Amino acid sequence: MPAPSAEEIKDVNARYHDVAAADYDRKWGISYGVQGRAQVVAKLQRALGERGLRFGRALEIGAGTGYFSLNLLRAGVIESAVATDISRGMLDELATSARRLGVEVETVRADAAELPLPDASFDLVFGHAVLHHLPDLPGAFAEFRRVLRPGGRLAFCGEPSRHGDRLAGVPKQAALAVAPAWRRLLGAGERLRLEDGEAARVHGLEHAVDVHAFTPAQLRRLAREEGFEDVRVSGEELVSGWFGWINRTLESTAEPEQIPPLWFQWAYHGYLALKALDTRVLERGLPPAIFYNLLLSARATADG
Ligand SMILES: C[S@@+](CC[C@H](N)C(=O)[O-])C[C@H]1O[C@@H](n2cnc3c(N)ncnc32)[C@H](O)[C@@H]1O
Repeated sequence: MPAPSAEEIKDVNARYHDVAAADYDRKWGISYGVQGRAQVVAKLQRALGERGLRFGRALEIGAGTGYFSLNLLRAGVIESAVATDISRGMLDELATSARRLGVEVETVRADAAELPLPDASFDLVFGHAVLHHLPDLPGAFAEFRRVLRPGGRLAFCGEPSRHGDRLAGVPKQAALAVAPAWRRLLGAGERLRLEDGEAARVHGLEHAVDVHAFTPAQLRRLAREEGFEDVRVSGEELVSGWFGWINRTLESTAEPEQIPPLWFQWAYHGYLALKALDTRVLERGLPPAIFYNLLLSARATADG
């Protein structure tokens, strides 16, 4: 099969995420309370390698339902935000949550490599789990550089690492093998609900929306070649990532309403305990390449 064109990748991403939008926050456990704010602020700080930073005007790329923008606005880390995404459905969900939370945010439907925004107009360009969907990475990084003021900061979190992505296959396969016994133990039935028409077709495209997994060197090179300096790549989530993949895979095989609430509590607290092990021990000593997620930060060169 010929490799899909850039236009096809963008089209599949827009359609897939339009359909995924309504259930997105529930599926990924996204929240906009104290917990959500703490998660997002910690990730941004980890990417930047600094605590306590505040930014004026910020631009989010692939903002989705608003996990980062809304939490960073509520935490006071950014003063104002423009949230961009290729999916109108995701931006509509973001706008609904913003209204509910009383947060002001401008939404703009745009491809990351073609931003309809003026030069040198942002202090921070950021994103979470988006670079791996972009067919034209050099074009996108050139746009990030163009819209940042000289000296402005770039920060991307939650990008799949090449090694981590391969390793994630192991817990997923193991979880599928034990899923029938797990469902019996919890008294949950196998997921049988069939999706209808467009949703089923688009969910079948899930594999086609992820077009990259990165090495730290690739991310560094991209940023340097497009006019960034002080480039920094770190890694996060190793054992907590495996735990998360096992649980999400198990959960995806059962009827959601038949999974006991106690299971979700165990999954959440287990994740937190392993996340602490990752943060306090493993992320300090092991190379970024082996973690599931990579974080990138850089500074726009002052001479443009
Ligand atoms: C995995 S979701 C992450 C959403 C959000 N950042 C979060 O962390 O919850 C990836 C997002 O990137 C968006 N996206 C995919 N391709 C894009 C492109 N070419 N330009 C801009 N956004 C894109 C998708 O529509 C989707 O909302």
